[in-house]
Amino acid sequence: MSETRNAALDNTATMDSSGGTEQATNGLQRLYKPSSEVVENANVTAYMRQKGFSTYEELYDWSIKNPQEFWSDQANELGWYEPWQQVLDDSQAPFYKWFVGAKTNIVHNAIDRHVTTWRRNKLALIWEGEDGTQRTYSYHTLNREVSRFANVLKSMGVKKGDIVTIYLPRIPELPITMLACAKIGAAHSVVYGGFSVEALADRVDDANSKVLVTADGGVMRSKVVELKKIADEAMARTPSIQTCIVVKHTGHEVTMESGRDLWMHDLLSLPIASAVCPTEPVDAEDTLFILYTSGTTGRPKGVVHTHGGYQVGTYATLKFVFDIKEEDRWWCAADPGWITGHSYIVYSPFLTGATSFMYEGAPNYPYPDRWWSLIARHGISILYTAPTAIRGLMRFGEAWPSRHDLSTLRLLGTVGEPINPEAWRWYYRIIGGERCPIMDTWWQTETGHFMITPTPITPLKPGSATRPFLGIEVDVVHEDGSSCAANEDGLLVVRQPWPGMMRTILNDPERYVTTYWDKEPAGMYTVGDSARKDDDGYLWIIGRLDDVIKVSGYRLGTAEVESALVSHSAVAEAASIGLPHEVKGNVIHSFVILREGFEGSPQLEEELKGHVGHEMGPIARPEKISFVPSLPKTRSGKIMRRVLKAQALGQDVGDVSTLES
Ligand code: PRX
Repeated sequence: MSETRNAALDNTATMDSSGGTEQATNGLQRLYKPSSEVVENANVTAYMRQKGFSTYEELYDWSIKNPQEFWSDQANELGWYEPWQQVLDDSQAPFYKWFVGAKTNIVHNAIDRHVTTWRRNKLALIWEGEDGTQRTYSYHTLNREVSRFANVLKSMGVKKGDIVTIYLPRIPELPITMLACAKIGAAHSVVYGGFSVEALADRVDDANSKVLVTADGGVMRSKVVELKKIADEAMARTPSIQTCIVVKHTGHEVTMESGRDLWMHDLLSLPIASAVCPTEPVDAEDTLFILYTSGTTGRPKGVVHTHGGYQVGTYATLKFVFDIKEEDRWWCAADPGWITGHSYIVYSPFLTGATSFMYEGAPNYPYPDRWWSLIARHGISILYTAPTAIRGLMRFGEAWPSRHDLSTLRLLGTVGEPINPEAWRWYYRIIGGERCPIMDTWWQTETGHFMITPTPITPLKPGSATRPFLGIEVDVVHEDGSSCAANEDGLLVVRQPWPGMMRTILNDPERYVTTYWDKEPAGMYTVGDSARKDDDGYLWIIGRLDDVIKVSGYRLGTAEVESALVSHSAVAEAASIGLPHEVKGNVIHSFVILREGFEGSPQLEEELKGHVGHEMGPIARPEKISFVPSLPKTRSGKIMRRVLKAQALGQDVGDVSTLES
């Protein structure tokens, strides 16, 4: 940001030691500045001073001119069994390597190094179930539980090179299983518990997993989600699973197939499940996990993340953005089955030695103040959630949060989709008491950690994720790679590699190159979002450019929903689009051509919705299905979803010159 722009920002808002301030800029946007107390105590301010800079802009400029120095500063705060010889190897770009030659293990930094200090007695994890049951784990206990399960996995022959699929509800066994895999050098692939049969079977197949860890069920609104039953159906469709380990959580009856299915508690009671298990030193570039994400084809992409760079990126971003201090109680309300949960429920809170809170259940159960009561009862100091959750809770009104003492909160965050300014202001005013800066973090499954985000010292504009994180160089460009002017819409790109970046797509390195690097503009990481930069250099995300729909912040590929639809005997062809929705951000509207002999009816519409829900999971269930005689297609046969969308929204359909006639 230029000096003039800085000055402009500084002149438009005044500091207020009691809390944030809101003042108009350009008569359009309002700018929220943090209190001097927040600025003075922020981790990022300490780092800025340590590096000899007096403004954040100077620190940022230095960090993108010297990214290797910035990232190695961060890496040096973690432990390594053997040091790296090179910070970044770009000789085989875009297959970048970070901390080349180093030996490490993320579990060494997330657990081992804490249990030899006073932190062994600190709470690592606090869990509450929907029925009010609580479980707590100190770092010492977490270490024992992770070691015990790691020994069980080891005894089954699980080792480096294997991918364990995990399909668990939001219970402590989920982070424990992830950490146990990492500890012995195996990779994990967590499939979100809201996904269903086909989605699970596809992911198990692609990862060729021999071991699946699941539970009898999960709990949502006091009802059981039948995870084991779904896992049974998925296992019947895929040949690779030899062992299925089942956590007893709900206690309802499930089918256990002899020779394949084993209870976790039985395994943990065997002598083999010793609480001592050495952490396996791995190469910095060894795979930590695979996480599948939706793309433009029916086959989800297995995004590969590694131990070394990922631990540095997630550690540094949590420390600087959410300003983690020893006394914090951090609550990332996402599901560990998504990247947000991987990076900010499981790995980075433990890397920073924080206390992480986890809740299994609905936000409004039994009453719409459940979350606010959790914050008050557990003394949560930082809450990180999604715009859809904020909008959902906002509907119930201010009376619910106002019943609770939310004064322990000091920072708030959002992720997953653009937040509408109205929801931002409600969150700021009602939940944050006008004293908690909101960290609107933009990032992706592929990026591993925050990329565009404020820190607590950044003046905020509701709806903007503000500016790139330290060491991250992003831009908004035209298709030829040239930068867009201020306020001009363009493609969001990242110009330099970063440590937590995905390394490839499992089994498909070619797709990694073509999806992210070979697209116009070539040679930069293309994000798939459109965005614009305003006069102050603040970034505003407009939305996805590809056929990905964000439903309640969850990323779903139109192609996956369509493939679930055409797997029904009545459906010949299908197309899906996202339409705006007040709470969920978007909902799915599908258009279906029926096979001969079938006729559209409200009953068939319900049946098809249920079918998608069964195959993909409830989040993918279309809101509306229209039966149509034909679909708009290009001459090469590609469905023009943008035409369907424009028609559904009553807008001009635009250029349809490539439309099939
Ligand atoms: O479109 C952007 C949107 O979510 C996409 C990434 O989705 P996923 O891989 O599921 O990761 C979500 C959680 C990290 C992005 O390409 N997105 C994410 N965060 C924001 C956002 N859009 C606007 N503002 C955000 N803060």
